[in-house]
Amino acid sequence: SKAKMIVDKSFRISEIDPRIYGSFIEHLGRAVYGGIYEASHPDADPAGFRNDVKQLIRELNVPIIRYPGGNFVSGYNWEDGVGPVENRPKRLELAWRTVEPNYVGTNEFVKWAQEVGSEVMMAVNLGTRGVDAARNLLEYCNHPGGSYWSDLRRSHGYEQPHRIKTWCLGNEMDGPWQIGQKTPQEYGRLAYETAKAMRLIDPSIELVSCGSSSTGMPTFPEWEAVTLDHTYEVADYVSLHQYYGNRDGDSANFLARTMDMEHFIKTVAATCDYVKAKKRSKKTMYLSFDEWNVWYHSNDADAKIEPWTIGPPQLEDIYNFEDALLVGSMLITMLRHADRVKMACLAQLVNVIAPIMTENGGRAWKQTIFYPYMHASLYGRGVSLQPIVDSPRYDAQDYTDVPYLDTAVVYNEAEEEVTIFAVNRNLNEALDLECDVRSFEGYRLVEHIVMEHEDLKAVNTAAEEKVKPHSGGGASLRDGYLTGRLAKASWNVMRLK
Ligand code: AHR
Repeated sequence: SKAKMIVDKSFRISEIDPRIYGSFIEHLGRAVYGGIYEASHPDADPAGFRNDVKQLIRELNVPIIRYPGGNFVSGYNWEDGVGPVENRPKRLELAWRTVEPNYVGTNEFVKWAQEVGSEVMMAVNLGTRGVDAARNLLEYCNHPGGSYWSDLRRSHGYEQPHRIKTWCLGNEMDGPWQIGQKTPQEYGRLAYETAKAMRLIDPSIELVSCGSSSTGMPTFPEWEAVTLDHTYEVADYVSLHQYYGNRDGDSANFLARTMDMEHFIKTVAATCDYVKAKKRSKKTMYLSFDEWNVWYHSNDADAKIEPWTIGPPQLEDIYNFEDALLVGSMLITMLRHADRVKMACLAQLVNVIAPIMTENGGRAWKQTIFYPYMHASLYGRGVSLQPIVDSPRYDAQDYTDVPYLDTAVVYNEAEEEVTIFAVNRNLNEALDLECDVRSFEGYRLVEHIVMEHEDLKAVNTAAEEKVKPHSGGGASLRDGYLTGRLAKASWNVMRLK
């Protein structure tokens, strides 16, 4: 089968905010303890953080990392995690039913994030706590000095303020699993009052209002309509979270899940615009897709984990090849909505539903999903262009008219580089592609990277990387037309310069 597309430098969707390539570290499972931090590891730095893990994160060029949760934040006392480590309490952590030793807290994390080249997106606890704890944490982190909390930070050895710009007003407050779940009215009021106090301390911060935990929530999208009615003028972003799985083994349907993601983005944007109209506001609300990924492989194993240990192997999904294809498609979907989606976090970064895995005391290694995420982060910076696509389509269990060709295009004007990201969702046949790129006169094809594998269920391990990209995609560029054959079930990155 054959697909045609037109890419033109004047078909601009928007400048891409690099923060859409963000990720997430939660105090959950082995993300922190045994993941980024393992003091007894031979490759640990003097602070106990693993250098091998830092190196893999740097390869991904992650601009922002959300912290410390997730569900964890809704029971977290941030004061437990600052000051001399020997004085920090061990707490029962109720979200994941572990013991939190508080060896790592705000200061250590901020310093570590700087070392891997990332900003921090800090979440405040609006589950068990509220305005007071949030304003104190902000004063501790961002106020230069001369006040109780900022001087406490200085006394802890951090003379300069952390200047954390982005703050999440709680996490998944619509979910019954959340400690301190709220009704939309309750959350809207609390988030508004918290935002008000935080802005009085530091007007330069950006705030994220909690949206729905997924499209499947019974309160979606009423949650957004009601909560934003309170927070519209104090928040800059509303959050979206979504995970997909292939529980019934229907890969064609699984690869079509981005149809749902697209509907999610469009519905949240429309709801924001409805509130904007209602308020006669001039302000546009942006979207922070601050949890997204595939998550289902580890569900059964998690149910068997004994509670109340430090760093148990929770949510350790081992990703296969088809998961990498969906992750690629999810990135493509966000790129096509770069005008509204300004931040996003692949959830998560290390060990917990993550592109990077570690062995305690041993190796760090790359999961299949590492690669599409890395390609998008490295080559997906610039302006998102709207491709005009004519692709054959298929019907899946839950979606009709799914284009086999899923694609997004990024034009990096400064580097004079164009990158076409494309997934061929056809599981049985290659797709011949003809792409009109005549507006990019004089450009040549630099490389056509491909990820393909005979076995959709193939996985990587610490010992063997079965699923990885190669540069022999075989596309060619002549007389302003890019032509090539996209292998069945493949992730493609075609770079023009
Ligand atoms: O990322 C894992 C969990 O998923 C987060 O803690 C929570 O916010 C979401 O339900």
